[in-house]
Amino acid sequence: MKKISLIHGPNLNLTGSREPGIYGAETLDAINAAVVQKCEQYGWQCVPFQSNSEGALIDRIHAAIGQCDGLILNAGAYTHYSYALRDAIAATRLPCIEVHLSNVHAREEFRHHSAIAPVCAGVIAGFGKNSYLLAVDALKGILE
Ligand code: DQA
Repeated sequence: MKKISLIHGPNLNLTGSREPGIYGAETLDAINAAVVQKCEQYGWQCVPFQSNSEGALIDRIHAAIGQCDGLILNAGAYTHYSYALRDAIAATRLPCIEVHLSNVHAREEFRHHSAIAPVCAGVIAGFGKNSYLLAVDALKGILE
């Protein structure tokens, strides 16, 4: 059975109430439930995790080594400047899909750059909850 680590970074715990015009009205719990359900339909296990702390996110990425087959990561604002997260992803040598709820390229300039994209298999942005569901399909194409 494939195991997927679903990781959300800073402020994403507030999804649903935080700037709903940008990030949507669905809670992170609802998004997690939809991703877990889709993975189960593929016979996969998916374990969600959220932290506002860069170190905790790095520890979680490291924990995937030898335990998981792929990563789905919304690193929030860390996306745009965390070389530490980038190095952690690279260290896993696992396929990682970078996900964003919003279309970061249609927003402020600082969101146009991703420090982690070069070590990810691909990037999905702008589709709200569906960004995560598309990431599951992206991993399916890579892993099966
Ligand atoms: C985000 C986009 C980031 O720029 C922002 O800092 C977030 C959320 C998204 O899902 O659209 O916190 O990753």
